[in-house]
Amino acid sequence: MLNFKDKVVYQIYPKSFYDTNGDGWGDLNGVTAKLDYLKELGIDYIWLTPFFVSPQRDNGYDIADYRAVDERFGTMADFENLTKEAEVRGIGVMLDMVFNHTSTEHQWFKRALAGEKEFQDYYKFVDGEPDSPPTNWVSKFGGNAWEYVPSLGKWYLHLFDVTQADLNWENPKVRKELKDVVLFWKSKGVSGFRFDVINLISKPDTLEDDSQGDGRRFYTDGPRVHEYLKELVADTGIEDMITVGEMSSTSIDNCIKYSNPDEKELAMTFSFHHLKVDYKDGDKWSLMPYDKISFKKLFKDWQEQMTAKNGWNALFLTNHDQPRIISRFGNEDKYWKESGKLFGGLIHLMRGTPYVYQGEEIGMLNTHFTDINQYKDVESLNYYNILLEQGKSSTEALDIINQRSRDNCRTPMQWDSSDNDGFSTGNPWIQVPKFGKAITVESQVDDEDSILAFYKKLIALRKDYEIISNGDVSFDLEVPEQVVSFKRSLDGQELLVYGNLGEDDIEISLESDLSKGKLLISNYGENKVNLASSLILRPYELLVVII
Ligand code: GLC
Ligand code: CA
Repeated sequence: MLNFKDKVVYQIYPKSFYDTNGDGWGDLNGVTAKLDYLKELGIDYIWLTPFFVSPQRDNGYDIADYRAVDERFGTMADFENLTKEAEVRGIGVMLDMVFNHTSTEHQWFKRALAGEKEFQDYYKFVDGEPDSPPTNWVSKFGGNAWEYVPSLGKWYLHLFDVTQADLNWENPKVRKELKDVVLFWKSKGVSGFRFDVINLISKPDTLEDDSQGDGRRFYTDGPRVHEYLKELVADTGIEDMITVGEMSSTSIDNCIKYSNPDEKELAMTFSFHHLKVDYKDGDKWSLMPYDKISFKKLFKDWQEQMTAKNGWNALFLTNHDQPRIISRFGNEDKYWKESGKLFGGLIHLMRGTPYVYQGEEIGMLNTHFTDINQYKDVESLNYYNILLEQGKSSTEALDIINQRSRDNCRTPMQWDSSDNDGFSTGNPWIQVPKFGKAITVESQVDDEDSILAFYKKLIALRKDYEIISNGDVSFDLEVPEQVVSFKRSLDGQELLVYGNLGEDDIEISLESDLSKGKLLISNYGENKVNLASSLILRPYELLVVII
């Protein structure tokens, strides 16, 4: 297996990236048009979220045809051109394979509904009575996870929206179909794949109610998931490609298995525990300030334990399902720049492969929408209603959605000062947020002190310093509660990273003799830091010393 230690991936949500034909939707040609920008940023791969034929109930994660480009994104020729142009610039293309479920608009599901037994076996259909779903499992988007089909007298499972029917991986024909999809895109010259919620594909043989939770413990990292992944990888020959699995509510032990090269499963894994530290009692829709101690502890555990057993982490703080990190754990106003750089720095200096989500590199913020009708995401809209049913006022419910909605990261990329921040000359499918300052590529591209310049530098550092891409990692430096710190080490060299997660100045005592060290990067201007044995970290200050 190849490794991807010194690589950086840039995630593109094409619908919101750049619209070239003025229909309000970003498109594949829009990605091609911005490749020079991405090359300049220094990234190695782009991961495109789904642009396949889809009713767009879940923005393309509900696929109706795995092998065709949705015409709103362009054509197959546009895709081939994008791949070719990316390759010319040394950028590989990764595609998003949504294999846990299909849209109910997919041919397979339609044929199942039409009564074809063969296709009913493609999904999780269970005989039953209209009033009693097979289990009490809860859909990740709210409500029971089973839907009744009166004409068949059967229920089908949907762990996500009712229009996203779970596939039956126990059926070898399904596994064969999905392998063929991978082979199809591989033959188009793509460089790798991201596998959507891939640790949910293996369901238990016996279905039972969950008396303790929403059912996830039965199908998360399910009984045959490793076997299925090994088979998928071996039969499609993608072992040496860059692959990343999105792992929902997973465990470190399973992620070691998914990503240890000896297992021949995936190159790396996304996990989410560190992004649940502001969920009160584990509930995404219950607000709480983020718990810095858990945040630090989760990084420590995942970094150290994955490393000890040769697992590999995909590193990220934001993606198309998460709020913007500055709005979430940083400060949008007073410390916008400092906090944006701090969080970027932490991710890029850890052990693993960093992912940059579009707009993160310029410090984009949450939607700040004032009306629920501005939201588009199915999950946000479902939960808004659920919150109202639970007795919240519309103001309270909107406040929760404002903080937790997946649309926070799905608003258009902010390019320049023209209409719609340069995203589209038409009517964007979702509004461009209007909030305080102009946050655009144009306003940062020539500014050496910008968040954008800082990301360029971080990406370049990974290529220049093997200690960053390949060094060991430990989190045992003694620091105050609001400070996160870790040490990287390689061949007698050490890299010390300290970050102030808070907004108070805080004194830290540094490890041994830092005066021999060199400041590698700083979010407070490099010459302002004096490397003594104890020093004050300012709000959101990131200190990186190499010795
Ligand atoms: C993943 C995707 C998310 C999608 C879900 C169902 O979590 O990232 O956007 O809604 O899977 O496919
Ligand atoms: Ca368009």
